[in-house]
Amino acid sequence: DMAMVSKKGSRLVKIHREQAERKKAQKKEWELAGTKMGDILGIKKQDDGEAKEMDDNMDYKENQKFADHMKVDQEQKSEFSKRKTLKQQREFLPVFAVRQQLLNIVRDNSVIIIVGETGSGKTTQLTQYLHEEGLTKYGMIGCTQPRRVAAMSVAKRVADETGTELGEEVGYSIRFEDCTSEKTMIKYMTDGILLRESLREPDLDHYSAIIMDEAHERSLNTDVLFGLLRSVVSRRSDLKLIVTSATMDSQKFADFFGNVPVFKIPGRTFPVDVLYSKATVEDYVDAAVKQSIQIHLTGNEGDMLIFMPGQEDIEVTCEQIKERLAEVEDAPGLAVLPIYSQLPSDLQAKIFQKAPDGLRKCVVATNIAETSLTLDGIMYVVDSGYCKMKVFNPKIGMDALQIFPVSQANANQRSGRAGRTGPGTCYRLYTDRQYREDLLATTVPEIQRTNLANVVLLLKSLGVENLLQFHFMDPPPEENILNSMYQLWILGALDNTGQLTRLGKKMVEFPLDPSLSKMLIISEEMGCSLDILIIVSMLSVPSIFFRPRGREEDSDAAKEKFQVPESDHLTYLNVYHQWKSNRYSGQWCAEHFIHVKAMRKVREVRAQLKDIMEQQKMKLSSSGTDWDIIRKCICAAFFHQAARLKGIGEYVNTRTGVPMHLHPTSALFGMGFTADHIVYHELVMTTKEYMQCVTAVDGYWLAELGPMFFSVKETGKSRGEKRKVATEHLKTMEREMKEAEEELKRRKTFE
Ligand code: CDP
Ligand code: MG
Repeated sequence: DMAMVSKKGSRLVKIHREQAERKKAQKKEWELAGTKMGDILGIKKQDDGEAKEMDDNMDYKENQKFADHMKVDQEQKSEFSKRKTLKQQREFLPVFAVRQQLLNIVRDNSVIIIVGETGSGKTTQLTQYLHEEGLTKYGMIGCTQPRRVAAMSVAKRVADETGTELGEEVGYSIRFEDCTSEKTMIKYMTDGILLRESLREPDLDHYSAIIMDEAHERSLNTDVLFGLLRSVVSRRSDLKLIVTSATMDSQKFADFFGNVPVFKIPGRTFPVDVLYSKATVEDYVDAAVKQSIQIHLTGNEGDMLIFMPGQEDIEVTCEQIKERLAEVEDAPGLAVLPIYSQLPSDLQAKIFQKAPDGLRKCVVATNIAETSLTLDGIMYVVDSGYCKMKVFNPKIGMDALQIFPVSQANANQRSGRAGRTGPGTCYRLYTDRQYREDLLATTVPEIQRTNLANVVLLLKSLGVENLLQFHFMDPPPEENILNSMYQLWILGALDNTGQLTRLGKKMVEFPLDPSLSKMLIISEEMGCSLDILIIVSMLSVPSIFFRPRGREEDSDAAKEKFQVPESDHLTYLNVYHQWKSNRYSGQWCAEHFIHVKAMRKVREVRAQLKDIMEQQKMKLSSSGTDWDIIRKCICAAFFHQAARLKGIGEYVNTRTGVPMHLHPTSALFGMGFTADHIVYHELVMTTKEYMQCVTAVDGYWLAELGPMFFSVKETGKSRGEKRKVATEHLKTMEREMKEAEEELKRRKTFE
């Protein structure tokens, strides 16, 4: 296989060389047309310290050259010419041609739906138009995004287009990171942020306009916002609401808001050749690697975009493309760049940069690049046909991220990315028949497939009494709502009638998942709030441990030194303490294979959560060296996610009996330490159910802290009786809650 590629490769290299001359001539033109994003985004920040850090990361080593090149390029340009280019770019966008028409419609209507192809300028321009029109005199212009990456990168772009410093007139806000100031007039944020803001300010008085971007994505928070904003606009006639979508199913949005106008931005797209796989693809990573090398060696000028379901596949794909290409003699250079949401933002910025000197760019992305980030110059798309989705899994009783085939709508968006700047080609790694027969027409909205505990908590505290009556565009299945209410009841956030308890009200204050906010709140009375605060902060950032290729053993050994054999949570606490006693040193992190940026983020998150705790007048105390208390506290918040030892390394879920396994990264894995009972933070579903971030607990704690579920086997009848009572109690409670809901529903209907 490999040999074939190389042999074919050397023939192909010749073809490539012939193209080189033509390329040179094209290059000038190319650079003019291309976005100069790279000049702006990220590069400025790469002062020495940062650049070094990046160099540590093997993945990006070769791209460092690329960054250096861009840096020089940047220095040579005067501020003036840069801005002129940006202005020209703005005026070249399809939305610019209809600017005035658009503004007229906005003036005459309080809600409008705007539809436009990806890259037409919706996200970056609409906010600026409204600002130029004077709307920011009366309040901010808010623009929501389903993805944090998009919020950050778009804000940066708009700050540059307006010639301002990011965080001043133009800023962004995502969970645990507020990059705005009193000056901010245009604010990009995740939909989750606006949702939380509505808790403090139900009418969103700070805003004169809100743009709900990427509505076609139908993210959970966007769907909830739809319902809330629908009533906000009925109360506030001065508020402008713009809903944007990249797809044509906009009539649904228009109907939802009361038959409001739909404005279509005339698009400028080029034809895309769609090619299907002839046979069913077994290994989409392998197929994508082969396809991309083929394109690189035989194709014409133009960048490549590969869609993969998630981070792991992206990393493997990048690695394999580089490896296989290295085996091809004289192969032309290729800048292989990953993009996924957990990637550090300076590295994310790289995908917008133009590769220098005829280097082709190959971006390997999740569906983040489907519509929310626009890349210019893509001529080739390779579509694996899969994406990752969060779906409620009844087997395990919680949400799990799983890989699913994309919908036809996704597939079409993906292929569309090849035709933005010129005619393109899309390679679908599935058959024509699979596309027609196996793929759903559109994706099921998140609200219909995920756990709604957070939404329930939020809506309850907004005073929405009957959730089944809330105005959803597509109501979630009743069972979903009741399930989530049940889960909140288990956690003690709702009482038997479905009302928020004191605990529940406190939980809403924290921008965390219900179990985590509960853990933080109960840690106060258990006397370990400072310790739990650190653990929660550590759990709120992506991976801390760094495992560079080629140095796996060294990094594993370093990690082992931190490990507390009975708990991953305590291992995290341990890492933080040691980092702190080393004066939060970056050097120390590097030596111990720990991501310094992630740790700095932990510190920020900790400070923010601590602020909230102080506002709530919570007592801050540490249990010192008594780590059993901490484990007990973890157990009290996660008893519903517990497992019992069955065989070596094998566990079964205590409630459902489903087999589960320790994740290989766990401190409990293969340490010769076997715990009879454990609680876990997360489940990762691959071929098996893996528990990630695990803590050993005492079986009696489970019985004590989660009496509705557990009793300890050995203790005979009295405990058995107890369990029976608990089970019955549970049934009664479920019935009561259901009745309460139904009663409310009945009352509402009669009103
Ligand atoms: O929202 P929509 O897909 O309609 O387009 P947009 O995101 O406003 O993008 C308009 C233009 O801005 C495109 O040509 C992008 O390449 C450019 N852009 C950029 O260079 N960097 C960003 N972070 C965002 C947009
Ligand atoms: Mg957009």
